[in-house]
Order: sequence, then structure tokens, then C-alpha cells
Amino acid sequence: MTTTDRPKLSVIGTGYLGATHAVCMTELGFDVIGVDVFPDKIDKLNAGEVPFFEPGLAELLRKNLETGRLRFTTSYEEAAEFADVHFICVGTPQKKGEYAADVSYVDTAFSSLAPLLTRRVLLVGKSTVPAGTAARIADMVAELAPNKDVELAWNPEFLREGFAVEDTLRPDRLVFGVRSEWAEQQLRAAFAPVIETGSPVIVTDFATAELVKVAANSFLATKISFINAMAEVCEVTHADVTKLAEALGYDDRIGRKFLGSGLGFGGGCLPKDIRAFMARAGELGVDQALTFLKDVDDINMRRRARVVDLGYELLQGSYNGAKVCVFGAAFKPNSDDIRDSPALDVAANIRRHGATVVVYDPAAMDNARKAHPQLTYADSALEAARDADLVLLLTEWNEFREMDPQVLGDAVAKRRIVDGRNALDPTQWRAAGWTYRALGRP
Ligand code: UGA
Repeated sequence: MTTTDRPKLSVIGTGYLGATHAVCMTELGFDVIGVDVFPDKIDKLNAGEVPFFEPGLAELLRKNLETGRLRFTTSYEEAAEFADVHFICVGTPQKKGEYAADVSYVDTAFSSLAPLLTRRVLLVGKSTVPAGTAARIADMVAELAPNKDVELAWNPEFLREGFAVEDTLRPDRLVFGVRSEWAEQQLRAAFAPVIETGSPVIVTDFATAELVKVAANSFLATKISFINAMAEVCEVTHADVTKLAEALGYDDRIGRKFLGSGLGFGGGCLPKDIRAFMARAGELGVDQALTFLKDVDDINMRRRARVVDLGYELLQGSYNGAKVCVFGAAFKPNSDDIRDSPALDVAANIRRHGATVVVYDPAAMDNARKAHPQLTYADSALEAARDADLVLLLTEWNEFREMDPQVLGDAVAKRRIVDGRNALDPTQWRAAGWTYRALGRP
């Protein structure tokens, strides 16, 4: 493909997904404009700063800004004027007090852009949405766009935070939900460099494309809750869930990935996606098909309660007045994202039980401080552990995995640790005089 065949791209919404998509598409050779309604975010991005923690992204942003082929704006008009293919990457958070997803940002993005489209372009939804949303949006676009040949496609995104650059440059699959040959060809052109390097393309209707995404996240959540359910059984049989997972993982029909037992899943995707999926199934009259996801959610939430209980046991029955050190605030390592973070959920709960909770996380401190000002924050792991009666390891950053039990032992008041992520070697920690407890292992 020559440079002139390349469609010009816009990316609407510059969160974890959109910012990464805009930068990576420029890296792949396209001319890209990123759009967001928050001027602060746009200023930062234009200055080469990524407003969140994502390994490798800031370097790639700066490199691509220098090419002159990437810029960010708050103007939908500019994007409409510029691009042939528009990617809509705004969030769909859980509605307050409900299971359903809030699709209002998606609606607003499409309804702001559509009236500005005077030539034939492709709009591509990347946001995770309830089945049926794309069909509804297609009708809305048909009504609002001055050019009646404007089309919609749905192209779900499977990137993982922490590996977002790699996952965007080399996705393990591309799903194109389309209604015409033309839309498919536009998408193939917009992803040509990725397709050339071997990423398989699955072409579907809208509903299948929407469902692939929520089905994938539901499967991943189920896999995690499966091993955590096994951990509950291991706890009463004195078995070791980490050995169990290792042995299961050698069966390549099962596989070892996402059998990491412990405090369970959090973040901006898995928890809200399984809930939104259940809510949508209810609306569609097939709620029975997904009732198992309620168990998946319940098992997951029980692990948080179990960590609080283990700490309670180690403190001999009272958190009141105890000093508890919490390692980890992000929902997973290599991220500063604290949305539905299991670690912060546990920390806040223990604080409510009367403990002084001191938190340390290598990247998520600013976000945690804003969301949980009632907790105390330390500048380093050792400082957080100083004089602690109990240590809780709740997000498995390498920094915590590699901690020396002797060095940490010298800092704390009492050598007691709950390993909430099965990240440490119990033998080593017990040999160093620690009372070590974990989820699903003796
Ligand atoms: C997840 C999916 O993995 C991505 O494919 C998807 O694109 C993304 O959601 C999304 O919908 O945007 P992400 O939320 O970045 O990605 O995080 P994961 O790596 O899936 O981890 C989710 C949670 O599960 C974390 O809290 C993690 O600690 C937990 N987890 C993961 C476990 O408890 N055990 C495991 O074995 C793996």
C-alpha cells in the first residue's frame, strides 16, 4: 500500500484505549488526529505527556508527535474535516446503582460528529457496548449525517492495560462488525499494516462484534473466579491452589493463563462488563443464560472479604488501633488505574474496622490519594511498612515480589503478612520468621 492509499484517521476519546490507538496508528504510518472534550488532556498529549501510566506509551507519543502526523484537538469540526475513518473510543462505565452500562458518552460522541460529516466516511465504534447498540447508532447516524453514504462499523478492542502498545501494534485478532463490503474494505485499509504482519481478521455482523468483546471478558472473569472457587475449596482441604493451577495449566485445553488465584479481578473492564452483560441479557429475555456470571461476580467479591478475614485472624481478632501496611493500590501491576481496585477496596474496608492503613504503590499513589483521602500514603514500601502490625500484599508489582523478607522484617513491628496475590514464596518468608497467610494455600 502506498502512503496515498492510507485513510486519514481520527480517534475520538483519548483515555487508555483512544490515546494508545492514536499513537500506535501513527506509529504504523497513518496521519491521525485525536479528539477529546477535556482541554487539559489535549494540552498534555500535544506536549508529549501521557495523562496515565502505560509502559512505553509516552516515548512512542513523543516520537510520533515529532513526525508531524499526529496531533490532538478538542474540535470535532477539525476531525470531521480531516479524517476518512473515525474511531470512537469513549468509555462505557457502569451506571450508578445499576448493573447496566452507561452508553451516554458513546451516544454523545456519535451525535456530535455525525452532523459534521459532509463526505462519505466510515465511523468505527471501538467502545465496549451492550448488544444492539451499533444497530441503534447506525440509525442515529443515518438521520444526523448530511452525507447519506456515511457508514458505521464495530471493531471491539482487546488491549490489556500495561501491554496496551504491544496489543495495539500486534493484536491477536481483529474483529470487523460491518454491513457492507465497502465498510470492510475501509477497515482493511485502516488496519493494513497490522493485517500484513499476520493478525487474523474475523468479519461479522454488528451484534456478533459487540458480543465477542463481552464474551471474551466474561470468559476471562469466569476463569479467574473458577480458580478462586478452587482456592476456597483448597482452604478447607489444606490443598495448594498454586500447585493445582500449575497442574491444570499443562492441559493445553485449559492453559495456565488467567488461573492466577488471589484477590481476584478489578479494573475498569471485567467487573463492569460482566454486570452490563447480565443486565443486557435480562432486557433481551435470556437472563438465565448468564446467571452463572452472578456467581463469578460473587466469588470474586468474596475473595476481598477473605483477605480482610485473614488479616483479622493474624491480628488476633481486632483491627482497632492496628497499623496495617498495604502494598498495592492499582487494580493490577504496571498500571496506575484504580477503578474498582480490589486492593483499595480491602484497604478502605480495614480502615473502617479501625486500623490505620498505610498504602504504597509504585504508580497509582496520586489516583489513590484523590479517591481515598482517608488512607495514609507512604513514599516507599519500607516507609509504609515501618512499625506495621500487619502487611497485606494486594497488587503483585515486581517490586513487592522481589522484597527481601529480612529487610522488610527489620522495618515492621510484627512479622505478619497476608499474600493476597500468591506472589511470594511461603517457605522463604516463614524461614525469615514471618507468619505467612495466603488465599487457597497452606
Ligand atoms: C481486560 C482484558 O484482559 C482485555 O483483553 C480487555 O481488552 C480489557 O479488559 C478491556 O475490556 O478493555 P485489563 O482490564 O487491562 O484487560 O486487565 P486484565 O489483565 O484482564 O486483568 C483484570 C483483573 O484480573 C486484574 O485485577 C487482575 O489482577 C486480575 N487477574 C488477572 C487475576 O486475578 N488473575 C489472573 O490470573 C489474571
